[in-house]
Amino acid sequence: MNYLCSKFNIYYMKKLFPLICLAVLMLTACNEKLVEASYDIIPLPKEVQVNEGNAFILTPNVKVYYEAGNADMQRNAQFLTGYVKDILGFGLEIEEFEPETAKDGIVLLLCPDAFEETEAYRIEITSKQVMVSGSDAAGVFYGIQTLRKSLPIGVANKVALPCVTINDFPCFHYRGMHLDPSRHFFALDSVKQYVDMLAMHNMNRFHFHITDDQGWRVEIKKYPELCEIGAYRDNTVIGHNSNLYDSIRHGGYYTQDELRDLVQYAADRYITIIPEIDLPGHMQAALATYPELGCTGGPYEVWRRWGISDDVLCPGNEDAMVFLEDVLNEVMDIFPSDIIHMGGDECPKVRWKECPKCQAKIKELGIKADDKFTAEDYLQSYVMDRMEKVVEARGRRVIGWDEILEGKVADNAIIMSWRGTEGGMEAAKKGHDVIWVPTSYFYFDYYQSEDIANEPLAIGGYVPVDRVYSFNPLPEELSAEEQQHIIGVQANIWTEYIATFNHVMYMALPRAAALAEVQWCRQDQRNYDAFLNRMSHMAEIYDLYRYNYAKHIFHPEALIDTIPPTLATHKPITLRQDPPSQKYAAHGAESLNDGVLGKGAYASGRWVGFRGYPVDAVIDLESASQFSHVNFNANVNKGSWIYNPKSATVLVSDDGENYRDVAHDEYPISTWEDRDGIFHYALDFDPVTARYVEVVIESFDLPVDHEGYGEPAWLFIDEIEVK
Ligand code: ACM
Ligand code: ZN
Repeated sequence: MNYLCSKFNIYYMKKLFPLICLAVLMLTACNEKLVEASYDIIPLPKEVQVNEGNAFILTPNVKVYYEAGNADMQRNAQFLTGYVKDILGFGLEIEEFEPETAKDGIVLLLCPDAFEETEAYRIEITSKQVMVSGSDAAGVFYGIQTLRKSLPIGVANKVALPCVTINDFPCFHYRGMHLDPSRHFFALDSVKQYVDMLAMHNMNRFHFHITDDQGWRVEIKKYPELCEIGAYRDNTVIGHNSNLYDSIRHGGYYTQDELRDLVQYAADRYITIIPEIDLPGHMQAALATYPELGCTGGPYEVWRRWGISDDVLCPGNEDAMVFLEDVLNEVMDIFPSDIIHMGGDECPKVRWKECPKCQAKIKELGIKADDKFTAEDYLQSYVMDRMEKVVEARGRRVIGWDEILEGKVADNAIIMSWRGTEGGMEAAKKGHDVIWVPTSYFYFDYYQSEDIANEPLAIGGYVPVDRVYSFNPLPEELSAEEQQHIIGVQANIWTEYIATFNHVMYMALPRAAALAEVQWCRQDQRNYDAFLNRMSHMAEIYDLYRYNYAKHIFHPEALIDTIPPTLATHKPITLRQDPPSQKYAAHGAESLNDGVLGKGAYASGRWVGFRGYPVDAVIDLESASQFSHVNFNANVNKGSWIYNPKSATVLVSDDGENYRDVAHDEYPISTWEDRDGIFHYALDFDPVTARYVEVVIESFDLPVDHEGYGEPAWLFIDEIEVK
């Protein structure tokens, strides 16, 4: 360790801080081009100590020094000057130096012995020097990100950096985002821009989902037809799995050379790309190319619809297993990641149950069903186990979606917990390392606003920024030892409904900023209101880089829609049957007359979901009242099995026991040609005087052109008004 790395004598001079601020303000007044940096950035550093002394003045004359001969640090220096140029409009000269020599200017330094954590950094600012030291080159890079995000944008040719000591390191060493170029393909340059966005948010893992039913995206030399056939689909279903299709051939793939270039681009930014070959399900694009690898032999098409395909690889066919082994080996040749993702999610077993080869394999392996899992579940474990050996033989570790817990799973497999948090909790208790990506917090393909009429079509759900921010990765239900197995947090961007990279950015930002604080900051450090304040500067940075980001958090007043009270608002309300799903129960019956209007996202928590029996709500107006009108809204999302009401009936009663009909309406079923969204239903009748109002809303069964034909449709209802 060289002398620069030893602990500095810092005087923590809180009392002097106001004077320093005043001095800086006066300086600012004298020279309007001098603007002060702010360390209120995202993710918030662990510790910012304010020190005595005049600010460091960053001008075009400042030099950046890095340790002679260290290529990583040279690259870090180049990143820093590039960022300064982006933000302030001027670059800085870079020079090598011998760490034994003291330098005025910005000094980048590796100090592995001065830190207990990896990826850690310290920034010490005096009037003469900005020292960015790190436990490793990645740590220095995060220090550079912090400096970059603290600079005011585009308004100064001189910036005052107040004297501080910043000590910082991440809480989690797996800080990821995912992207799915299979459902929609994105050009390599766009993917690089995604990597840049991750780096800006201090993330270090990029989960790249490069194969799926709707498109194979990675060149495999041994199977060249994968990219000739499997990378293209003839057209794509419109909307939420309607029976209409566009007429656009869609596809594309990345060559191995392009992927190696991408891997290096990410590595330069301290980001590891984790490739995912989703197996043995989500393989229809491969089956379209090599139909003999499926149980039925096909023919198959590169899928033009969304959802979960029943057609999966046939584990009873040795060629299919060899295919997977070959693919994984070539993928590992391209991606040096220490972790390889093998998918394992959503693999229906219907074909395997009927397939003589699969059944023979089950027999041959002596697989038996037990009271927990079927023989076919264990057949999937056989596939996962075989592929795990291929990955392990190359010194890598496997990761899979939480479904791989169903059956037998290798002890050291990492579990990516997406179906709620149950899988992750179970996995941590069993001693598996876990990465959190529960849908209801981290699926960034879900809506981020309730006002979906004004949003691009999304898969559904509702994950606003505050929801992302509220996640606690270390729940109390886990012991301290089990918590050690929580290695990180990630968000996913599936792209069924995201066809352009501009739209990817819109879904990613600013939710990625909230995620970054979940990943980097301690739970007790996080405060949503303070985060929102810091977000305004982050938005300026997004603007500078022309990132397309969602603006809802900057207009919070638009998020709630309170309506004028009617006779029914906030009156006692009961449902004759509770909603069938806790998830869609909102705040119970009261949600139906709380004076707050549900907006577009059916999963926003403001809509009450019913299925299998009518909505039957009784409102006690508390005294006999006269009225002649009842209305309510229904949210229709046919792809999510949510239809419009079949009929509505209004009944009234004086005593709460004897009811009489006053109005009844019937409605035609919504067709695929009709739009989804919110529909208003109003029933008018001759004025009546009564104390109790009962509203009965009946649902349809799913029609013959729906994938769930014959099943009851959902009804999503909000705000019953009585006037
Ligand atoms: C998943 O969303 N199927 C992992
Ligand atoms: Zn089979």
